[in-house]
Amino acid sequence: MRETDLDQAATILRNGGLVALPTETVYGLGANALDAGAVARIYEVKGRPVTSPLIVHVCSVEMARGLARVWPAEADTLAARFWPGPLTMVVPKREVIPDIVTAGLDTVGLRLPAHEVMLEVIRRAGVPVAAPSANRFTELSPTTADHVRAAFGNTLDMILDGGPCKVGIESTVVSLAGEEPVLLRPGMVSREDLEAALGRQVRMAGKVEGAHPSPGMHHRHYSPRTPVILVRGGKLPAGRGAYLWMHTSAHAEYEQRMPAGAVAYARQLYEALHAADALGLDWIAVEMPPDTGEWAGVVDRLRRAVSA
Ligand code: TXA
Ligand code: MG
Repeated sequence: MRETDLDQAATILRNGGLVALPTETVYGLGANALDAGAVARIYEVKGRPVTSPLIVHVCSVEMARGLARVWPAEADTLAARFWPGPLTMVVPKREVIPDIVTAGLDTVGLRLPAHEVMLEVIRRAGVPVAAPSANRFTELSPTTADHVRAAFGNTLDMILDGGPCKVGIESTVVSLAGEEPVLLRPGMVSREDLEAALGRQVRMAGKVEGAHPSPGMHHRHYSPRTPVILVRGGKLPAGRGAYLWMHTSAHAEYEQRMPAGAVAYARQLYEALHAADALGLDWIAVEMPPDTGEWAGVVDRLRRAVSA
């Protein structure tokens, strides 16, 4: 990464432009989180409904505190344990954050990402960066700069290539805005990890209840164009398809062996789905991973990829 690229990205952000940025989870489509006009362009370019709040990325805990109206003790606990890293904390927001960033909610999702390029751009820009995943609404999240280019071509002001994302699925989202912590989106920081750090139970978000929608919950979020089915034991449908397997091989038009461990699997998941999707086959069958806590983030994304 060249110094001039980092400076250029920071300048574009300060001037209200859009930059695709690498993080450890997936690539983000970034804008100055304090600039309502710039953030409006994110929604436009993604084709995302303005009812979906964005995550605001910071380069220090201090910056995060400055954006929170209330910074609970548990936020310090989780920041000390998991930041920088794939965890977003939802806390009451300060007024400096425009309503469009949070879709009108009085809370904001904050994240200190573990990627030096992203952190350095935020430092140089001197502003927090609102960034959803850099894909069009409902489509697959990008884990390489090529995925971002394929989705957006030249419509962005800049795409910073920081290599393939190391975590590979979106951050865990936990709300600390209520009486008790609530898991809004599972990820590679597991519910069990959060409970161990906090020393108390973390409730799973139930069905979306009116006033507090969680957009990761949108039907058909994270979907390839090709229909995805989850299978056990290599039982594939008729027709031409791709099969992502861990333990049981089968005969499909295209086969991709996936790692048997959750961390390595998550890292490769979107790349594997992007590659299978590009073949234009009838289906993508995926062998169902185990139903344990460490796999919860992966299983969640697979269920969402099932498009029917
Ligand atoms: O790993 C990630 O989180 C990536 C990278 C770029 O940081 N970003 C990402 O953003 O996945 P996006 O916009 O695709 O997903 C944002 C998620 C939503 O699913 C929503 O549940 C949650 O963040 N969220 C953000 N602000 C919230 C709020 N105020 N209340 C509840 N949920 C919120
Ligand atoms: Mg997304």
